[in-house]
Amino acid sequence: LDARARSHAATAAHAPIAAPSILSADFTRLPEALAILDAERDWIHCDVMDHQFVPNLTLGPIVVSAVRRLTRAFVDVHLMVVQPEGMVAAFRDAGADEIIVHLEASDDPGQALARVRTTGARAGLAIKPETPLPPYLEALPRCDIALVMTVEPGRGGQPFIPGSPKRIAAVRQAIDRGGLDCLLGVDGGIGPDTAKIAAEAGADTFIAGHSIYRTPDPAESLREIRRAVLPA
Ligand code: DX5
Ligand code: ZN
Repeated sequence: LDARARSHAATAAHAPIAAPSILSADFTRLPEALAILDAERDWIHCDVMDHQFVPNLTLGPIVVSAVRRLTRAFVDVHLMVVQPEGMVAAFRDAGADEIIVHLEASDDPGQALARVRTTGARAGLAIKPETPLPPYLEALPRCDIALVMTVEPGRGGQPFIPGSPKRIAAVRQAIDRGGLDCLLGVDGGIGPDTAKIAAEAGADTFIAGHSIYRTPDPAESLREIRRAVLPA
C-alpha cells in the first residue's frame, strides 16, 4: 500500500487516534498482536531504544519491517536514540509512515525533523517529562505530531505522571494559537482513565502498551481506550 492510501489515518480530522505500542506485545505472536488494529484508523507504535538515550535496548528496522509486512495500519516509529539523523532513512525503508525524534537527542532537532521529512515520512518531535517547554514549542511548526511523554522514556508499564495534563495543555495552546496542522500525542501510562484526562487537556493521539497488550483481551482493551476519548 502506498503512503497516500494510508494517509487517511494521519490527520487531525481523523483524531482521536489510538496507537497500541508493540513493545508490550508478545513478540512470538506478532501477527495476533497486529490483528487487533483497525487498519483504517489505528496506528501501531514502535519504540526504538539504543541503550544510550535510554538504558534499554529494543528493536530496529528489521522488526519495523516485519510489522510493516503484517499490517496495513499506519506505522509510527518513536526513536529514543541519540543522533537519530543517521537512522531515519533505514526506518523509512523499513516501512515507517511517521518517525518521531526526541528534542533532547540531537544538537539540531530542526535538522533532524527536516531529515525525516526528506524521506517522505511524517515527522514528530517528542519531549521528556522534565524538559522545559519553550524551545519545544518553537519547533512545533516543523512537526506533524508533538509527542508529550507522560512517563520517563525507557520502558513500558510505568504510571502516568500526574503533572502531565498541564504540559499537554500548554502544547495544545501553542498548536491552536499557531494554527498548526500538528497532532498531539501522549505516550506512557495511558489507559482508558488517563487517556480521558489527556484528551481533556488537549491530546488527540493515544499510545498505549501495557493497558492493551498486558490484558486478557487486548482487542477489547483497545476498544475501551477508543471509547474513553471519543467526544461525548
Ligand atoms: C516508553 C515508550 C512507550 C511505552 C508505553 O519509553 O515510549 O511507547 O511503550 O508503554 P505503556 O503504555 O505500557 O506505558
Ligand atoms: Zn513510545
